[in-house]
Amino acid sequence: MQVAPGEVVGLIGPSGSGKSTLLKCLGAVIDPSAGRMTLGREVIYEDGGRVRDLRALRRDRIGFVFQAPYLIPFLDVIDNVALPAMLAGMPNGKARARARELLGALDVLHRAGAMPSQLSGGEQQRVAIARGLVNRPPVILADEPTAPLDSERALAVIGILETMAREHATAIIVVTHDEKIIPTFGRLYQIRDGVTHEQRRQPA
Ligand SMILES: Nc1ncnc2c1ncn2[C@@H]1O[C@H](COP(=O)(O)OP(=O)(O)O)[C@@H](O)[C@H]1O
Ligand SMILES: [Mg+2]
Repeated sequence: MQVAPGEVVGLIGPSGSGKSTLLKCLGAVIDPSAGRMTLGREVIYEDGGRVRDLRALRRDRIGFVFQAPYLIPFLDVIDNVALPAMLAGMPNGKARARARELLGALDVLHRAGAMPSQLSGGEQQRVAIARGLVNRPPVILADEPTAPLDSERALAVIGILETMAREHATAIIVVTHDEKIIPTFGRLYQIRDGVTHEQRRQPA
């Protein structure tokens, strides 16, 4: 499987086929038992052996949007989104400004001062998406990011990812079984019986 800068690809497959596991391997959260993985010219894994400092890789180069939002319960919405940017060394004011911009694009800026427990599931997920994008990482991995969203908002999320990919040359992989968004991907991979196949199809 290969993803180019500026591209948003879909990854589909039956429940339990290994989509989340593959995404965690790609994001250097868990180690694959075999195979080879590269990021740009760098080899990250080779035959199951770890080659690089994965903590720095995860922090600086990978943006995750998980299946569950995992927001920090004692920080308000704006600081949940701004925190990764602050941790990366961005001044607080600039980090919050960027957080506001993303929250606006995701149609949840009116909840900026709320605590996560006060939000609906869909609002929490949109906040988690903003957090995953705030550092503009070169790679974004999203695991069923639109599952709790209605059609209009699901398509808006994909639109934001496409803009992000185009404007910042981000490589984005979206795991989904959301029928509404599958037609939007230019390329689509499917896991079948433990093997990833590229599906030949017409772009939407
Ligand atoms: N950490 C783990 N250790 C062992 N087996 C796991 C682990 N995580 C997931 N699995 C198993 O691997 C398979 C693929 O799971 P998963 O990647 O979550 O599938 P999907 O996201 O496609 O629904 C399942 O059978 C699951 O039970
Ligand atoms: Mg999964």
